Formats: sequence, structure tokens, C-alpha cells
Amino acid sequence: MAGIRGPPEDSDLFPARPPPAAAELISDDDRSVAADSWSIKSDYGSTLDDEQRHADASEVLSASNFPAASDFSSDKDDPDANEVEPSILGLQSYWDSTYAEDLVNFREHGHTGEIWFGVEVMDVVASWTQNLCSNMVGGRNPANGSSDKSESADETYRDLSRWSVLDIGTGNGLLLQELAKQGFSDLTGTDYSEGAINLARNLADRDGFSSIKFLVDDVLDTKLDQKFQLVMDKGTLDAIGLHPDGPVKRMMYWESLSNLVAPSGLLVITSCNNTKDELLAEVDNFNKRIKSQDLDRDTNTEPTDVFRYLDHVRTYPTVIFGGVEGSRVSTVAFVRN
Ligand SMILES: C[S@@+](CC[C@H](N)C(=O)[O-])C[C@H]1O[C@@H](n2cnc3c(N)ncnc32)[C@H](O)[C@@H]1O
Repeated sequence: MAGIRGPPEDSDLFPARPPPAAAELISDDDRSVAADSWSIKSDYGSTLDDEQRHADASEVLSASNFPAASDFSSDKDDPDANEVEPSILGLQSYWDSTYAEDLVNFREHGHTGEIWFGVEVMDVVASWTQNLCSNMVGGRNPANGSSDKSESADETYRDLSRWSVLDIGTGNGLLLQELAKQGFSDLTGTDYSEGAINLARNLADRDGFSSIKFLVDDVLDTKLDQKFQLVMDKGTLDAIGLHPDGPVKRMMYWESLSNLVAPSGLLVITSCNNTKDELLAEVDNFNKRIKSQDLDRDTNTEPTDVFRYLDHVRTYPTVIFGGVEGSRVSTVAFVRN
């Protein structure tokens, strides 16, 4: 996720990978500020519950072979090839200062701020998601292609306005505006940075999308007790993975998402730090861990996967690196069982 604070024109470029380490992004003076915010963020979510969840996740992590986020390259000779260096992009302080700056730019010049992965990707994600949701009508069960949906369920899916949609780490909220243009209307955006929510609300009001709901919320310690039929993530898991405790935070992420996505609902993740296969492997690991916990609890019901792969975007431009072909952005949809 390099070129992070590039001018708006640059945002149409796919960000280079792997993301820059904190030391590469900041000056010497800034470095001490970053070090301070680093220690501030080590208190991240320091409620008792969160500490307990963090300890649980750490324990599982040390006992399992959890895959690190990686470049799509298969350069496995390099022992570090599969590791993403922590970066200031993993810290809330970075996002707070970024959105404070963006708000000033919005007020003074009407700028929208960064469009992550560019306008083209945002448009693809919105229209592809609309198509995916619409395909849940007409008797097609998108998960297995069978025709076992009842007519009333078809009706519900056909009417996109009946889908409750949550965009986590919404930033400037522009993806939600695109989804509104696609026909979704029950839209909520959350971000742990208050500045992001202020910016998103201002932009939505300016652009005629005042009905979109926005609230400050940390997805790893969410206040939401509602479940959503469609949850979107564009770049948020990437940012979470860049925290110094990235691997643990990612585990907390999947736990939280399993509560936020409604049964039979969809999770659509767009990432530049993980390939489709890496995301699938991560979900597979999460499923196995939850299933083994269920077995330990000795429940009578057969444990099932929490998330299952549904589809992915196949139209992003690809590049060849180290003899392996891949695209720099991946968008993958999972169904919540
Ligand atoms: C790469 S930006 C993407 C922003 C937006 N989704 C987009 O595509 O333009 C990552 C966003 O995730 C937010 N974020 C990171 N960690 C978060 C967390 N734990 N809870 C909520 N938001 C988070 C950041 O504030 C930032 O807005």
C-alpha cells in the first residue's frame, strides 16, 4: 500500500507492494512522533475484554501455523517474502491525522481525499457486488448454483433496497455512494477514525446521499449488535494487518466479522496485500479453529465452516512477477453459513 498519500491523480494507480515500513515513510522528526503514537497504540482497545480477546488470539496464533499476509510473488527462497512489515498505516494515529488533513482539504477545496485502489477498482467492486447480490434471485443459490431458494427469498434478494449494507473502515465513504447508485439504500459506514466519519458525512450530504448512516466504530471492538446482509471491506483488513500486532488483529477481525455478517449474508473483501488464495487460506484457518473449538465444546451438532468462498473479481489487470501471474488487487466474496 505505497503511494498512500499521493495526490488524487495517483490514486488511479494500483499501489505498489509490499507496503512501506514505517521507517521508509517518515522523516527523523516524524519518527519520534510515530514512536510515541506507537506506544499510545500499544494501549489499543485496552479494555479488559479486549485484552482477554487479544490474549486468546495470541495463544491460538502461537499454536497454529497462521499464514502471514504476503506479496503474490512465489519467491519462497526469501524467508521474509511472506511477511508484511508493520507500518504506520496500521496505527489509528496515522488515520486520524490523515483525515484531519483531508477535512481541511474538503472544506477549502472540496476534495474527496484518497480513493483507495483508484476509481476504476471502486466502480468494479460496486457493480460486481450489485451483480452478485442480484444473482441471489431467480432461484439461483450463488453458493452452489442450485435452485433451492423460495420465491419469497427471491423477492427479498431482488429488492436491493432490502439488503442491509455495512462498509467497515469506510474512510471517505465513497464506496457507499457508489453502492447507492447501484440500487442499495440501507447503507451504513463505520470507521474508527472520527475524522473519516466527519469527512464521509460531509461528502454524502454534499453529493445528495444524506440517508447513508455513518458512525465511529472500531471493527475489532464493535459496538454494533446488528447483523448485516452485506459487509464490505476495501483496504481495511490490509490496514489492520499493518499494525505491529497485525496477525493477532487479523484473527480478531475474523471473529468480529463472523458476528457482523448475517447468516447467508455476504462479505466482500478488497485487498492489495493478499491474493485471493491467501484470503481463502486465512478463512480456511479460521474455519478450522472455530470448528475445533466447537468439537471441544462437545456440542451434538456437526461443526460447519463459518465462511465459505463464493466468487472473486476476475477482471483486474494482471502482472507477472517471478514467473507467477497475479493481480495487485483482489476482491473476494464469502458467504456466512
Ligand atoms: C486503506 S483505508 C480504506 C478506506 C476506504 N475503505 C476506501 O476504500 O477508501 C483503511 C481504512 O480502515 C480504517 N480502519 C483501520 N483499522 C480499523 C478498525 N480497527 N476499525 C475501523 N476502521 C479501521 C482506517 O481509518 C481507514 O479509513
